[in-house]
Amino acid sequence: MRDELSIRKYHTDDYSYCRDLWLELTQYHQQIYDDNSIGGDDPASGFDNHLEDYGLESLWVAEYNNRIVAVIGLIVSGSSAEVEPIIVNKLYRNKGIGKELLQFMINHVTNEGINYLSIKPVARNAEAIKIFHEIGFTTLGHIELFMSLKEDEIKKWRSEIKIHDLAFRF
Ligand SMILES: CC(C)(COP(=O)(O)OP(=O)(O)OC[C@H]1O[C@@H](n2cnc3c(N)ncnc32)[C@H](O)[C@@H]1OP(=O)(O)O)[C@@H](O)C(=O)NCCC(=O)NCCS
Repeated sequence: MRDELSIRKYHTDDYSYCRDLWLELTQYHQQIYDDNSIGGDDPASGFDNHLEDYGLESLWVAEYNNRIVAVIGLIVSGSSAEVEPIIVNKLYRNKGIGKELLQFMINHVTNEGINYLSIKPVARNAEAIKIFHEIGFTTLGHIELFMSLKEDEIKKWRSEIKIHDLAFRF
């Protein structure tokens, strides 16, 4: 797998493949939160918003046998950068592509003189958090806390995860 995978900058021709990958990401979030409303009426449109906000220069794709199988993006802010998004086609997961893309990005930002690289998975995405942790994202930065204000929302959340000995739903 490793020899046949190539990573290159995003081209405009890649648009529909990457939009489909964004749809997969949203569907994955729908699945882990058991909530089909995530992403709204057009769940793939998040990719259009991302392109509009950060531009095509912020994206790379991974090709395997001339087929686009993954997309990765980088948002740079001064000497810090954030990986957003990273999505591997579900038929190609667990083959090392995600980690290879992350290592590519770590090398890229290191060469660019970036000091901090972050990634912001949703708290319930344990599978992704494990992979990110294994590759070296082992320091916690900001933590977003929130409260559900609707009674029927509260029971949707799983318990529990602990930070500083405090229990949180996630
Ligand atoms: C998270 C995600 C990007 C990871 O990509 P991936 O390609 O599946 O990840 P990898 O294959 O590199 O790593 C997954 C596992 O495969 C293992 N692996 C690595 N190389 C391998 C190889 N050559 N053959 C088989 N398995 C391999 C890894 O060690 C890892 O196993 P472990 O976690 O049990 O140690 C992917 O699951 C995904 O797109 N998920 C949906 C979208 C998402 O959640 N994105 C993140 C939002 S922040």
